[in-house]
Amino acid sequence: MVLSMNRWEGKVAVVTGASSGIGAAVCRQLVEHGLKVVGLARRKDRIEELSEKLIGKKGKLHALKADVTNEQELIEAFRWITQNLGPIHILINNAGLTQPTNLTDGDAEMWKRIFDVNVIGLCVATREAVKDMRKNKVDGHIVHINSIAGHKVPDIPSFNVYPASKFAVTALAETLRLELNNIKSRIKITSVSPGATETEFVNNVNPSDDQIVKAFESILKAEDVADAIVYALSTPPHVQVQELTLKPINEPF
Ligand SMILES: NC(=O)c1ccc[n+]([C@@H]2O[C@H](COP(=O)([O-])OP(=O)(O)OC[C@H]3O[C@@H](n4cnc5c(N)ncnc54)[C@H](OP(=O)(O)O)[C@@H]3O)[C@@H](O)[C@H]2O)c1
Repeated sequence: MVLSMNRWEGKVAVVTGASSGIGAAVCRQLVEHGLKVVGLARRKDRIEELSEKLIGKKGKLHALKADVTNEQELIEAFRWITQNLGPIHILINNAGLTQPTNLTDGDAEMWKRIFDVNVIGLCVATREAVKDMRKNKVDGHIVHINSIAGHKVPDIPSFNVYPASKFAVTALAETLRLELNNIKSRIKITSVSPGATETEFVNNVNPSDDQIVKAFESILKAEDVADAIVYALSTPPHVQVQELTLKPINEPF
């Protein structure tokens, strides 16, 4: 199998949650591979800072402010992208979080926030990207940033509804694959499932949870996950990486 990013050069990629961690690392790599990358997040200033640092690379990073829980904002962001930069070829559904609560006496607003970002936001962004790809007859690629918690519930008590939201992402990746098959589309869908990764994600976990502290002792770098995403994107058009799981060596789960 010949791996190459050449066919994406000059094309438009959208990365949600581009203001930090894995999203920022993916933006950097896609710009280095010559893509026109649009980073979406609420903290647009952070994406602008990254964009400045990437001046002189093959591609370019554009910063757009969008809250993925706001459907209208997402629709407008996608409209701006297609009108100003061209047809969308790649979507990296990366925006995601957990919240410091639990199930037994938890906060329902926090549960809802997790589902709104990790599940509904991902579905709206996917719908908008697929609509544009089909309209322009683009055999594009959608990547869902899932988690090892989307396949097996880790023994982290304060993870509350987070694993359930990522199990939903596993199901959504497969449901999308089947839906695309049914309409004879050649758009690819890949789920990338990292274990503990060194990002700002830990700011939203319960610091008194010993299991979390233990889980984050062996850790991936955001760049490792970005490398995995680039690998999936580099495969030839007939090869679909369906699921890619990465664990740091000695992860306790
Ligand atoms: N770190 C890990 O251990 C780990 C492991 C497995 C999977 N993951 C997954 O990896 C993905 C990226 O997380 P990360 O580890 O890179 O964490 P991070 O550094 O905290 O980044 C999360 C990103 O999501 C964005 N985001 C959150 N809420 C948003 C909203 N309402 N609208 C738009 N963007 C929003 C944030 O941007 P703004 O706050 O600026 O909006 C930020 O850019 C998530 O899906 C996460 O579940 C992480």
